[in-house]
Amino acid sequence: MSPEQAIEKMIETYTPKLNNHRSVYRPRDIKEETVLLSGSTGSLGSQLLASLLSMSNVRRVYALNRPDSQNLSMMERHEIRFKDRGLDAGLLSSPKLVFLEGQNTLPGLGFDEDTTNKLQRELTIIIHAAWYLNLQVPLSKFEPSVKGTRALIDLVNESPRREEIRFLFTSSISVAGRSWDRTRGPFPEEVLSDARSAVGVGYGESKYVTERILAESGLDVTIVRIGQLCGGEPNGAWSVKEWFPIILHLSLQVGALLDIDNAFSHRWIPIDVVSSSILDFAFSDTNLPLVINLERPKPIPGQEIIQMLRGVLFEEAILPSPQALPLIHPKEWVSILQRLLGENRVSPKSRAVAHAAIGVGVACIAELSSAAPLKMNDRSQSPSRPRTVETILSLELDVSNAKILSRTFREFKPIDVDMVTKWVKYWIAVGILEQCASVQ
Ligand SMILES: NC(=O)c1ccc[n+]([C@@H]2O[C@H](COP(=O)([O-])OP(=O)(O)OC[C@H]3O[C@@H](n4cnc5c(N)ncnc54)[C@H](OP(=O)(O)O)[C@@H]3O)[C@@H](O)[C@H]2O)c1
Repeated sequence: MSPEQAIEKMIETYTPKLNNHRSVYRPRDIKEETVLLSGSTGSLGSQLLASLLSMSNVRRVYALNRPDSQNLSMMERHEIRFKDRGLDAGLLSSPKLVFLEGQNTLPGLGFDEDTTNKLQRELTIIIHAAWYLNLQVPLSKFEPSVKGTRALIDLVNESPRREEIRFLFTSSISVAGRSWDRTRGPFPEEVLSDARSAVGVGYGESKYVTERILAESGLDVTIVRIGQLCGGEPNGAWSVKEWFPIILHLSLQVGALLDIDNAFSHRWIPIDVVSSSILDFAFSDTNLPLVINLERPKPIPGQEIIQMLRGVLFEEAILPSPQALPLIHPKEWVSILQRLLGENRVSPKSRAVAHAAIGVGVACIAELSSAAPLKMNDRSQSPSRPRTVETILSLELDVSNAKILSRTFREFKPIDVDMVTKWVKYWIAVGILEQCASVQ
């Protein structure tokens, strides 16, 4: 089965039997909102949760998460995450907060009848942010996340107040797959009907599948398609599971930065800006469009970020000079890292990360040596042919809707040295930055 057939098959499996009569827009005159937020233990989810708990027009927040693999309580998991991200953990004792446990693989997420009925009576907004994040596994591994989304759709669809519930879904720039032809302009704020457009990584394909299902659901749905998140206020926390902190961490051992597209910055958008923008959309009293793209509208030259980063790493005594950490081609970077691993010169805590990064590095090399982006209307080319890394990292999204609907988005400031300092201090605090070696 081709990748596009697999995508269509999953869409077909989770689309049928929906009442796809689209909710008729009514002006929102809801004074007190009841919000269900999924994935509140995550980076973006915790930021959303902290804001929701502080809002006077929010009556209740149901924080929906999967059971914990390490037997921590919901409260403990949230306290850890809030502390990590510099958020006020005192907010977690708010009487507004109700923890919910649910499992994607169970019918109705495993909720008992009372819980389901209560949610169907009370909810006015759903923000669905939980997702399995892994760029290295195929579409099939994301089926539970798609299934869980379908269960949330059913919850709303079967509610007597279906038309009053606004459903926001956090999608990703990766739905642009490998084939967006830039001569057509920025990636549009619409759900593309051709599955070939999404072929690329399983993660992006799963978000595309879900966009298509939601677009067919008939609910008051808004897909918020997010570009690359970076650390933001209050403490610059930028998850060490993300590719950029991982690459920086390993680059200090290699003694050089992996040069993808001559820089990494492009259109990064701070996580607090994304969180506040999503809330601007969720609480907007106007009708929302089906898709809102969110990324930094003007790219920042990567060299600018790298220079700031080197300066701050030097200030923090991680680099021997502000000129250290040269950029080198991914092929060379990966081969140095492989050699260091072979010679047992990578610190034990970095070994697993290094192996994963080599996977990413190898993919980058394949991409870097590939041809120009595919034109969607050119059916003679295979859509699964790799695009260039430049296309992946600097793809421009049309952000017109976000500009209209979110004041936060219209007003956010460029990444400056204060923000870069916060990232670096966060990464030092969580122990991923060690003193830099010279190029190995
Ligand atoms: N990070 C980015 O740059 C980026 C860019 C575009 C879009 N997004 C989207 O934004 C949303 C939040 O991203 P994030 O960076 O905050 O991710 P994150 O920190 O990894 O948080 C993910 C959340 O989803 C939950 N989750 C993970 N796997 C799950 C599964 N199999 N079943 C149920 N829940 C699961 C996690 O729960 P546990 O705590 O139990 O693991 C956590 O609450 C996601 O939908 C993501 O796709 C992120």
